[in-house]
Amino acid sequence: MKIFLDTAELDEIKKYIELIDGVTTNPTLVMKSERNFEQVCKDIIKKVKGPVSVETVSESEEMMIKEAIEFAKWGKNVVVKIPMTHEGLKAVKELSKKGVKTNVTLVFSANQALLAAKAGATYVSPFVGRLDDQGMDGMQLVAEILDIFENYEFPTEVIVASVRSPEHVKAAALLGAHIATVPPQIMEKLFKHSRTDEGMRKFMEDWEKVSK
Ligand code: E4P
Repeated sequence: MKIFLDTAELDEIKKYIELIDGVTTNPTLVMKSERNFEQVCKDIIKKVKGPVSVETVSESEEMMIKEAIEFAKWGKNVVVKIPMTHEGLKAVKELSKKGVKTNVTLVFSANQALLAAKAGATYVSPFVGRLDDQGMDGMQLVAEILDIFENYEFPTEVIVASVRSPEHVKAAALLGAHIATVPPQIMEKLFKHSRTDEGMRKFMEDWEKVSK
């Protein structure tokens, strides 16, 4: 499973650069970075070899396409994030014809994912955490989408988004999701284990006692 970092913080991206396969951003993450939108996106696109999702903020098909074409000029690894709306789907269809890669975001149902894949989306992003917050089962949605894509051999890849815990990442991998996009604070928790730290401390203590 590929791991993307879900952030617009360049320092966090640099910290995990060797471990990640791509980056996803959204308007909220860019706002939190307190940087200029175009500049921060261009810095990330330059730093990361893999796909970098940059989100459109228009509501009409035409404006989304206009934004997408501009973003696509920023680098070969740009993926344009398009919201899961009727206008968004029409934009995805056009962009797919033009060879622009898309990530259909704000996916909360299997039918939405099906329509996005039929429109030619490169990626779909089901928001598991936000579904869990509502008392639903986000990972169940991921399982359904993976089944549907397999049934019809869609090339669209599933990005498990809105990840809230290491459990979400493990569940995504067990289901065979293509990608999980992980916030930096969860990334840290993926490799940290108290027993690893304890074991390491003991090895270092014992190493001190070895004659060298
Ligand atoms: C990534 O593509 C999504 O925009 C992000 O994972 C949403 O996460 P949130 O629900 O924690 O805001």
